[in-house]
Amino acid sequence: MKEFDLVVVGGGPAGYVAAIRAAQLKMSVALVEKRATLGGTCLNVGCIPSKALLDSSEHYENALKNFAEHGISAKDIKIDAAQMVKRKDKVVAEVTAGVDFLMKKNKIERIWGIASLISTTEIEVVPVDNKAKDAQKQTLKAKRIILATGSIPVELPTVPIDGKVIVTSDHALSLAKVPEHLIVIGAGVIGLELGSVWRRLGAKVSVVEFLPRLFGNADRQMANLAQRLYEQQGMQFFFEHKVEKAEVKGKKAVVTVKDANGTVKALEGDVVLCAVGRKPYLEGLGLEKAGVKLTERGRIAVDFHSYKTNIPNIFALGDVIEGPMLAHKAMEEAVACVEIMVGQAGHVNYSTIPSIVYTHPEVAWVGMGEEELKEKGIEYSVGRSFFKSNGRAKAMQENDGQLKLLSDKKTDRLLGATIVGARASELIAELTLAMEFGASAEDIARTCHAHPTLSEIIKDAAENSGGWAIHQ
Ligand code: FAD
Ligand code: NAI
Repeated sequence: MKEFDLVVVGGGPAGYVAAIRAAQLKMSVALVEKRATLGGTCLNVGCIPSKALLDSSEHYENALKNFAEHGISAKDIKIDAAQMVKRKDKVVAEVTAGVDFLMKKNKIERIWGIASLISTTEIEVVPVDNKAKDAQKQTLKAKRIILATGSIPVELPTVPIDGKVIVTSDHALSLAKVPEHLIVIGAGVIGLELGSVWRRLGAKVSVVEFLPRLFGNADRQMANLAQRLYEQQGMQFFFEHKVEKAEVKGKKAVVTVKDANGTVKALEGDVVLCAVGRKPYLEGLGLEKAGVKLTERGRIAVDFHSYKTNIPNIFALGDVIEGPMLAHKAMEEAVACVEIMVGQAGHVNYSTIPSIVYTHPEVAWVGMGEEELKEKGIEYSVGRSFFKSNGRAKAMQENDGQLKLLSDKKTDRLLGATIVGARASELIAELTLAMEFGASAEDIARTCHAHPTLSEIIKDAAENSGGWAIHQ
């Protein structure tokens, strides 16, 4: 029986990062992954492929709608959806191969198979293809075990997924042709991002959402701004609508929805994307054999300092534990968990985890929004700036958008920031760092920002917070 200091189950952002950090810290490490490629949901069917399609579709929409303004004429602009999907697959192949390289570089034993706990220190690995000639079960012995098996889409019983007409994000990343009418169930991150991809490529997109608005905990005014911009682009929202059922009728899908007044209507489309959240993937993991406990919400219960489960040598990270299901959150936890194992001072600051929606314009936020501050009785100042007042944004033809900074009224310490606008995903990093370092709005206002850059929008908002914005 092979023995390791650490066996990691799951090769996604939580698992592969934990494995690498542990190898760097001189542990002998095995990583068990059931997919043929590493990188988990994020690299295979999540973050990376969705961004590849978002980029391709943005190029297309720009060519169609914005090139003429720049004095560029392009005739016969056509979509080759199959080529777009092929390019996306190539990007995925490259990034997943990159993780393989890192496994080898760090001398991590990569085991391809399905892992399950058989005791608190033993893991059985079954080959994925049980019928293969050399298929053989093996048992690994581990001083410590990290469970990082990630998540899968939530399915609704009345919305049967067939992978062709009624699909999850896994399938919506590889549609063979542009649907005429895409009906999205759930106005969350997946619905908005993948809805944007197919809308840009020509689909009519209708989004059915149970709640009255977008982005649950984000700043409401900024969420409303994003919604207005999506609507101007042609996305149609059905808020406060409950999905009763979805059915395939011939080549079409019919989604029956009920509004807040109880009125029932039928939406007819050719593809239905069900994106109502994800749930931890714990099937067959053998948690009961090792006695690992779950939270009330069905995620693995851990101590959020050490990531230990109730079994002291078994740890859990990423989408299987509580908290936002985000790759960067998973990776932070992985590093902290392994460092704490060896007595170092790993730490994750959950109040500075940025949220990003990679639509156009992008939406990004960190810390608290106005509603949360009010709820907590914290007095705050608002600093605001506009993309249309920024020279670089004008040069880029990116006039839509705003940035809002919220800081403590007495101390001026930054408490939250929301950006709706181009490159918000990159701009939010400065504000996250500022919050991490306990900066004040004035610290940002008095930091030299290069000109002309979009980052000056951040400086403008910080100046505005102090009542002396130069460029507004
Ligand atoms: P996963 O990435 O899910 O990895 C878990 C791995 O464990 C999987 O590869 C699985 O095959 C393997 N596994 C499961 N059970 C076993 C077993 N018994 N034995 C062996 N292996 C097993 N997050 C962001 O931060 N930014 C984004 O832009 C973003 N975009 C997304 C877009 C989409 C369409 C989706 C679906 C998700 C997106 N996410 C994004 C979320 C992100 O992908 C997840 O938060 C992240 O992948 C979680 O990492 P993880 O390591 O916990 O789990
Ligand atoms: P989500 O939780 O973001 O959104 C799901 C939406 O569906 C919610 O608004 C919810 O109110 C709605 N909903 C739930 N049940 C419904 C019903 N029966 N009818 C109508 N609406 C219903 O989940 P989503 O979009 O599926 O994404 C899953 C996870 O993947 C998220 O936790 C997210 O963090 C992660 N992700 C992150 C991305 C990013 O960081 N850019 C991109 C894509 C996914």
